[in-house]
Amino acid sequence: MKIKVVKDEIAGGKEGLRVFEEAKQNGANVFGLATGSTPVTTYNEIVQSNLDFTDSISINLDEYVGLGPDHPQSYRYFMQTHLFNQKPFKQSYVPDGLNKDPQTVSKEYEQLIQEHPIDLQLLGLGRNGHIGFNEPGTALDAKTHQVTLTQSTIDANARFFENENEVPRYAYSMGIGTIMQAKEILIEAYGENKAHAVAQMVEGPVTTDCPASVLQQHPNVTVVLDQAAASQLTKKY
Ligand code: F6R
Repeated sequence: MKIKVVKDEIAGGKEGLRVFEEAKQNGANVFGLATGSTPVTTYNEIVQSNLDFTDSISINLDEYVGLGPDHPQSYRYFMQTHLFNQKPFKQSYVPDGLNKDPQTVSKEYEQLIQEHPIDLQLLGLGRNGHIGFNEPGTALDAKTHQVTLTQSTIDANARFFENENEVPRYAYSMGIGTIMQAKEILIEAYGENKAHAVAQMVEGPVTTDCPASVLQQHPNVTVVLDQAAASQLTKKY
């Protein structure tokens, strides 16, 4: 793992842009993307850059089941707002949250990734070490699947919805095995509340207790951290 510790997430966004630029110069054309607060500074940098994705393909990690592209909490909506409206791709794929048949969605998404192998996958890190919606305990070789959200995730999301009943109970997510097939991985983490998960991911044993620890077994991973997220690492990087 190449570990880069920077001052803050603004600097992290610039580092993220550099990884995208380098990958593109080396011929990358299929980009795996993530939502959440972590990649926002990288997306901002990409939007302001000269990078052109009009011949490229993007494939997102996950989506809530039941939310369509017009729902402000859907991941498709997030991607449109933060990246695609300003930096269009030739094709941008997000799992179809309106399709309630998990077998079909999972099979078709895996087929899509077979047809367009991911050159560079961007990831954020959950406080509990999750990547995508793959919570601790998920099999490390799983492919795209439907995930049942935990009550704590449902509670945390409730503030974005009119009432708790509207909060999605399920999501579609690439599996850890799917993520590991990407040729290159960029994972970013910012803030002190990620410090424990970062230490487990980088220096802990490879275990389903910390899904991101499996990235130690991938041959080409860059980890971009701010100082707070790096604060529980014991070695100097
Ligand atoms: C997002 C995703 C999640 C987030 C993670 C961190 O598509 O799959 O794994 O990357 O939960 O979220 P933030 O960046 O909001 O701290």
